Amino acid sequence: MTLLGKKIVLGITGSIAAYKAAYLCRALIKKGAEVQVVITPAGKEFITPVTLSALTRKPVVSDFFTANDGTWHSHVDLGLWADAMLIAPATAATVGKMANGIADNMLITTYLSMKAPVFIAPAMDLDMYAHPSTQANLDKLKAYGNRIIEPATGFLASALEGKGRMEEPDRIVEQMEAFFENQNQWAKKKILITAGPTYEKLDPVRYISNYSSGKMGFALAEVCAERGADVTLISGPVQLKTHHPRIHRIDVESAAEMHKAVSVYFPETDAAILCAAVADYRPASFSESKLKRKDNETMVLDLVANPDIAAGLGKMKKENQVLCGFALETENEFSNAEGKLRKKNLDFIVLNSLRDQGAGFQSDTNKISIIAADGEKADFPMKSKKEVAADIVDFLFHHFVSSRA
Ligand code: PMT
Repeated sequence: MTLLGKKIVLGITGSIAAYKAAYLCRALIKKGAEVQVVITPAGKEFITPVTLSALTRKPVVSDFFTANDGTWHSHVDLGLWADAMLIAPATAATVGKMANGIADNMLITTYLSMKAPVFIAPAMDLDMYAHPSTQANLDKLKAYGNRIIEPATGFLASALEGKGRMEEPDRIVEQMEAFFENQNQWAKKKILITAGPTYEKLDPVRYISNYSSGKMGFALAEVCAERGADVTLISGPVQLKTHHPRIHRIDVESAAEMHKAVSVYFPETDAAILCAAVADYRPASFSESKLKRKDNETMVLDLVANPDIAAGLGKMKKENQVLCGFALETENEFSNAEGKLRKKNLDFIVLNSLRDQGAGFQSDTNKISIIAADGEKADFPMKSKKEVAADIVDFLFHHFVSSRA
């Protein structure tokens, strides 16, 4: 019953599979959803608005305004109204426009204004689907957080056979139900995430730090919030913005400040994901005035150890709390990560290595392995940080939270 009362914008585009949209409407409505159809001009060549409005009991939206009386159809209002948007069938042209923000019809403007999760069910000929430009557009849409409902393999309207058929309406509805089911479980969860670097001040103009941009931690925060969790994001100094209203962001500068903030929020959290690159050491003393260059050939800095935030949480962790750390390695990756997993009493650790080009600091991509305290291991290919975050969150959910909920 996860679709009961859900408001769904159903986007229909110009594909022969548009005839299945009538069945899709009925299947969604039978599950208790309220459906508002937005159709492209090409979509109307394949299925009539009369059929769709009879099924949904709502006028079908296609143009920006009604020609006879000038009534304005607000794509912004639709973006705020919906609990989900489903574009089925999605042609190669629509996929391309969505990926590149080409807002030349009501469906694309509605998509660009959408606050709710978006599902895309492509439908096209096998060669169009396999073309690198279509695949690149779909990858881009995935990286933006959209969910692609993979097309099925079978007979196509072109009389060819292959991958490109829109998934069957009942399977699409099942995938949406599974999504909302998952979201319901997440809705009760409080997640704490650390992100970014820390700055350890030496004097008023200098500090010790590292190259962390915060991208990995912020992607994790966005994904957890999109799943319905309440997120507290404790971030070191970064240039990033948070977008989701369920993210409560706390900015800190040093490891000591991060430690203090984490200690306040951890007792109330269900799971903590420690993605921050925390400086292990800080200058032993802070000079109130700028340190002056001397004639010496060398300069010795005294450093003292910062608190190990992860290890501290590992000690205070309760039975029902999940603790996930990260390990950024340059050599002996697995043994180092496993050592940190045990030493810090983590439930699992996400390993990324600077030996993998495109992984680790600053890039928009990452390549990870996950090692769990119970011995389970999972390796993932290079993906966008948003997709990597989704893999970590799936692992967190299935491996721990669902078994303890
Ligand atoms: O921010 P980006 O540019 O996107 O880059 C992402 C990232 C490379 C920073 C991220 O993927 C990552 O690997 N973060 C952890 C980096 C790190 O500091 O790893 P570590 O092996 O030194 O630390 C192990 C774990 O202990 C980490 O969970 C860390 O947050 C934690 N730690 C470390 C030191 C300390 N004093 N306190 C801690 O809690």
